[in-house]
Amino acid sequence: MNIIVTGGAGFIGSNFVFHMLKAHPDYRIICLDKLTYAGNLSTLEPVMDNPNFRFVKADICDKEAVEKLFEEEKPDIVVNFAAESHVDRSIENPQIFLETNIIGTSVLMDACRKYGIKRYHQVSTDEVYGDLPLDRPDLFFTENTPIHTSSPYSSSKAGADLLVLAYHRTFGLPVTVSRCSNNYGPYHFPEKLIPLMIIRALHDESLPVYGDGLNVRDWLYVEDHCKAIDLIIHNGKVGEVYNVGGHNEMANIDIVKLILKQLGKPESLITYITDRKGHDRRYAIDPTKIHNDLGWLPETKFADGIVKTINWYLENESWWQPIVSGEYMDYYEKMYGDK
Ligand code: NAD
Ligand code: TYD
Repeated sequence: MNIIVTGGAGFIGSNFVFHMLKAHPDYRIICLDKLTYAGNLSTLEPVMDNPNFRFVKADICDKEAVEKLFEEEKPDIVVNFAAESHVDRSIENPQIFLETNIIGTSVLMDACRKYGIKRYHQVSTDEVYGDLPLDRPDLFFTENTPIHTSSPYSSSKAGADLLVLAYHRTFGLPVTVSRCSNNYGPYHFPEKLIPLMIIRALHDESLPVYGDGLNVRDWLYVEDHCKAIDLIIHNGKVGEVYNVGGHNEMANIDIVKLILKQLGKPESLITYITDRKGHDRRYAIDPTKIHNDLGWLPETKFADGIVKTINWYLENESWWQPIVSGEYMDYYEKMYGDK
């Protein structure tokens, strides 16, 4: 089985590459990644020499490069993680989100149509459902919840989802879509809440909490997410959407306090700052469908996963220090500057 994993140098994609090489030692995994600020080649160093792994630096919007790779590798499956993924950046500059997240998805699917494919899997987000109120803990997102987006990021992901489902209906492309909740774990880029707070707390810097800090996210340990996608690409039904997450809801402020406690740092580091524009209040997933159809449930409780994650950042300063200092961009320049 040949699988192209786009965005495999990012947070979830790299964890997925590791998972697949371990869980399916007879598969060939090809990572296609543009290496934007969020892609980190050093993350993939442990598998670079694996004969079943290949890394290709390319943009999913680049039709020629994508088609060349399809011709060379004749993939059976494409799993698309590649995206601009940070809500705050989408508020600053929506355009690149539309290009990568929507146009890039269409380029990949056109290549799938041209060369033939067993499965195209789109990694999406629960943010396409908008948000839920804090005073209705009985409400959860199901696959039938209407799309109702808040940010340029979630709108671009929703646009891509609709396009993927349209390619299934119009062209018969064998697609699946997963919409997952907030992931956390190793290799999470330190602009997102959990790694940002861990690293800033370690440096005794202020911890910027948006608004009242009561916004709720449903946290999913990244390994659980990778297992879910593995199940969906093998056993999921073509044309279907699967929600991935559930049972790990936490308010931002409680996470920040937990991180401070675990690191032995004072709560006086917490600084409440101006709220994010259009800030979604609560995300919560109902995972009944993926549980009933594919037997998946999240295995890692937040209380355990957050300790594992904090310990990983404590033990892997060599991974995040160059990112924080900007050195890793020099590394790309050295590796790829003239290519
Ligand atoms: P990330 O930002 O850590 O990584 C994105 C990767 O995509 C990077 O390696 C980057 O270099 C690459 N990339 C960006 N633009 C590209 C392009 N034009 N061509 C090729 N590669 C490109 O993101 P992540 O957190 O790992 O998220 C992966 C996917 O999961 C995204 O589609 C995101 O929308 C979705 N998702 C993430 C979360 C989360 O909590 N992180 C939650 C729900 C859904
Ligand atoms: P984030 O990790 O950006 O993920 P998303 O916006 O996709 O859910 O943010 C998670 C939550 O943490 C969100 O409610 C915004 C909040 N947040 C802060 O309070 N301060 C910060 O510095 C960041 C990055 C996020």
